[in-house]
Amino acid sequence: RLAEHITVSSEGNEEKFKIKTYNNLSPIGLEKLSSARYEIGSEIEYPDAILLRSQDLHNVVIPDTVKAVGRAGSGVNNIPVDELSARGVPVFNAPGANANAVTELTIAGLLMAARNIPEALAFVNGLKDEDGGLDARVEQSKCRFSGIELAGKTLGVVGLGAIGVKVSNVARALGLKVVGFDPQMTLENAWRLSSDAIPADSLNELLSRSDFVSLHVTLNDQTRHLMDDIRIGKMKPNATLLNFSRAEIVDEAALLAALDTAMLRAYVSDFPSPALLNRPRAIVLPHLGASTKEAEENCARMVCEQVRDFLENGTIRCA
Ligand code: MLT
Repeated sequence: RLAEHITVSSEGNEEKFKIKTYNNLSPIGLEKLSSARYEIGSEIEYPDAILLRSQDLHNVVIPDTVKAVGRAGSGVNNIPVDELSARGVPVFNAPGANANAVTELTIAGLLMAARNIPEALAFVNGLKDEDGGLDARVEQSKCRFSGIELAGKTLGVVGLGAIGVKVSNVARALGLKVVGFDPQMTLENAWRLSSDAIPADSLNELLSRSDFVSLHVTLNDQTRHLMDDIRIGKMKPNATLLNFSRAEIVDEAALLAALDTAMLRAYVSDFPSPALLNRPRAIVLPHLGASTKEAEENCARMVCEQVRDFLENGTIRCA
């Protein structure tokens, strides 16, 4: 069945490959597949490989012609990895390729929460010129939006892969003390990757020590609802939780209760859900963590190279 879809060039007996792409892939990254051997498009019916970003492939029929899938990002929870593995189809991803982008947005999230930036912006944008007394109203708002400083506070980083380690390092430069924990790595391995942050012996210990807790774990059966009502209850009163991992790492019912009772100072998330829209203490972004020109190019380039090497030479190259 596979052979039916392989075209042989008249020039050099070179196998040609069809690549189905989904939206939002950087064209610059795709240049890695720009030779005449590749036909790339979103309408290809029987591709040799699929390249995608966050689209959910779980309910998509993946044709038997597919020999490789490339995810231009880190998480692969949108891909039926087990089913593809059973078919012998490798799934490539780009861990670390967007670590700068996610780190920078996480730090922006810390600052937004600490300095009440979304509320202050909404206040300013709501001011009307005809109100008069603009200066007086601006002056009064200084108390209303007075924030807290990051320097001297403690940040707990949960998950010490490429992103968690970068977040730790930048946070330390801002004067935060950082404690780290990784539910999937031994502390020894995690800290080999990281800098001088302080390891926590357990997640509960990290939660009880941190003024800010930032989640950087991948989503899987062990991490789904990692932050449930018991874990959220272990957090310091008035702490801030940041989630740039995946929505499902946090049990939303438990989170909403903690926001409503003001047990948490704020929840900063890259994953909108109906219950979080316009909710006090929730700062929600539309999954922008990896959305920078540089990260999009890095991710697309990395998976294109991996898919290319596999299709052309059968090489499985880990990112
Ligand atoms: C990731 O898993 O790295 C991000 O979800 C990437 C993306 O936004 O596409």
